[in-house]
Parts: sequence; structure tokens; C-alpha cells
Amino acid sequence: MDATASPAAATPFSALIRDASHAQHTAAETSPFMSDMLGGRLGVAAYTRYTEQLWFVYDALESAVDALAGDPVAGPFLRPELARAPELARDLAHLRGPDWRAGLEPLPATAAYAARIEECARTWPGGYVAHHYTRYLGDLSGGQIIRSTAEKTWGFARKGDGVRFYVFEGIENPAAFKRDYRALLDAVAADDLEKQRIIDECKRAFDFNGAVFRELGSRFPLSA
Ligand code: HEM
Repeated sequence: MDATASPAAATPFSALIRDASHAQHTAAETSPFMSDMLGGRLGVAAYTRYTEQLWFVYDALESAVDALAGDPVAGPFLRPELARAPELARDLAHLRGPDWRAGLEPLPATAAYAARIEECARTWPGGYVAHHYTRYLGDLSGGQIIRSTAEKTWGFARKGDGVRFYVFEGIENPAAFKRDYRALLDAVAADDLEKQRIIDECKRAFDFNGAVFRELGSRFPLSA
């Protein structure tokens, strides 16, 4: 074993990025808006407003896919079965009606989040990977908990309109998909310094999500 190897070099990147965002993950899960939503204490208007925010985030992530497809860093992560914008469009048509796009505006925190994703997509593929990881690996995990709560609380058909965002039709085995995704992270074409920058951007991505939750929470405080 190389005695000069740093712990960072010995630990797979997928583990480093997960561990670095662990505390923020707990904070996101336990944020008042998320807890209230998962506790079934909010109305469907709050869920709709939340789903609207997701539209802007995934529109930013997925509008960049064609431009980044051949990129050595970001390219390997771009898998068509992850695409969420078409599913969000169907959910929003159900929640807001066929004219769902008209008058749809992001909250300020969502606009800042989407702008940062777009900036990374244009200028820094590693940063884009940080945002990609933060959203899609989360959706394949905790997203499933949100789906079952939404179905029960607001009466959406199981895996149907309203919760299609959480249903990955093209991914039969999410656990296996996540394992493969972590292998891609471990093999990412980046040196240690760039990997650290990606981790920092992942933490920033969690911060953006936290800010969106705070804005949603202030718009949908619990009356009781
Ligand atoms: C109440 C909301 C949430 C719940 C219940 C939840 C739950 C979970 C669970 C159970 C896992 C572990 C899956 C596994 O080990 O395979 C996970 C992983 C993950 N979650 Fe969440 N989560 C929530 C919110 C979020 C948010 C808001 C984000 C970021 C936007 C997020 C991002 C992630 C990521 C990136 C992972 C993958 C960690 C890794 O293995 O590398 N989660 N989540």
C-alpha cells in the first residue's frame, strides 16, 4: 500500500460526495416544508407549488443534455431514462390544467438555482455533474417516499398523473442503477482538486434546495 496516499485518494469519490452532503441531506429531509408535506399536513396547493419549482430545475438540467452529450466529464451521466421534464409536464397538466405553462413563474430561490445549473452547464461540466447527482440520485431514493405520501394524501392514482415525476419507467432496478451511477462517479474524469470542487458544488446544490424549501415554507406555513 502506498503510505503517501491521502485518505481522499483511498476513498471512492461516490462515498466522499455522499458523506460531504450528509448533514445537509438530513437538514433537507427535516426542513419544516418537507416534514409538513411528508406528514400529510399540507394541501395539494403546496404540493403543486413544489412541483412547479421542480419544473424549472429539471428544465435547466435537461435543456443542457444535447450540448453536454459528448463531454468527457458530464457525458457519461446523461441517461435518457432519467429525463424528468416530460413527466413533470404531465404532472403539471394534471395539477394546473392543460394550460399549465401559462403564467408559471419560479420562486426567487428557484430562479437562482436554475440559473446556477445553466451557468455550470455552459461553463463547467464538473459543476453540472454535482447538480445532476444531487437531484437524480435523490429522486431515485427519497423521491419514492414523497410519491407514496402524495398518493395517499392527495389521492393521485398510484404512479399516475400528479406523481409521474417520481416514476422512472425506464429504470427497472433503481438500486442497481444507483450502483452503476456511483461507479460512474468513481470513474469521473477529474483530478483530486476538481473532485473537491465538484463536492463543494454539490453542497451548494443542497443549499439551493434548502433555500427553495424555505421559500415554500414561508408561503405555506401551517395554520394549526
Ligand atoms: C424528505 C425528503 C427526503 C427523503 C425522505 C430522502 C431520503 C433518502 C434516502 C432514504 C436515501 C438513501 C438511498 C440509498 O442509500 O440508496 C437518499 C439518498 C439521497 N438523497 Fe435524499 N431524501 C430526501 C430529500 C432529498 C433532497 C431534498 C435532496 C437534494 C436535492 C436529496 C438528495 C439525495 C441524494 C443525492 C442521495 C444519494 C446519496 C448517495 O448515496 O450518494 N434528498 N435520500
